Amino acid sequence: MSTPEPVAGLTLRAWRDGDAGALIAAAGDPLLHRWTRVRAAGPAEAQQWLDVQHTGWRVGDRYSFAVLDDGGTLLGNVALKRPDPAADDAEVGYWTAAYARGRGIAPRALGSLTRWAFATFPGVLRLRLLHQIDNTGSCRVAAKSGYAYEQTLRARDPYPREGHLHVCRRPS
Ligand SMILES: CC(C)(COP(=O)(O)OP(=O)(O)OC[C@H]1O[C@@H](n2cnc3c(N)ncnc32)[C@H](O)[C@@H]1OP(=O)(O)O)[C@@H](O)C(=O)NCCC(=O)NCCS
Repeated sequence: MSTPEPVAGLTLRAWRDGDAGALIAAAGDPLLHRWTRVRAAGPAEAQQWLDVQHTGWRVGDRYSFAVLDDGGTLLGNVALKRPDPAADDAEVGYWTAAYARGRGIAPRALGSLTRWAFATFPGVLRLRLLHQIDNTGSCRVAAKSGYAYEQTLRARDPYPREGHLHVCRRPS
């Protein structure tokens, strides 16, 4: 399977076991704890998270990519979640390490993932992006990446507050 095109100084590639150290360094951030399920307090937990990513690729329900700069430094993660291969939609997710935020990493990486997803899965017609209503940084990423606001969703586990659904449709 191909990988997303490099974009403006960023490379996206499947996570490797050798990323554990960089993952642990990034995962201690409170914002990641608040808004994502990334938990990597030490080598065992990091390996567990990496194993989930590897399984996702093998099974075909989750394609996650480490986002790296030209020097190979880990900057973040983008993922395509496709639990139902027969469905015409899929979901995207992302995070940027605290030390790399505010530089447009997530919008650029998400743009690359989006183009890759539509090119790789012809049956996918729309990509969904969900965030809790008070995650304003994520709302900005959606807007900057071509994911239009579609509707406000009721609170649902694990998010105690309402959410936004943004959608990016396959270009015609
Ligand atoms: C949301 C997130 C992915 C944005 O990534 P990024 O690479 O910093 O993206 P951008 O540089 O485009 O910044 C997006 C917005 O984040 C906010 N932001 C900017 N610098 C920031 C910083 N240092 N720390 C936190 N937020 C910041 C701003 O609102 C910015 O919007 P603006 O460009 O209109 O000012 C990142 O803050 C993150 O990883 N948050 C925790 C995980 C998360 O929320 N994931 C999404 C779950 S739905």
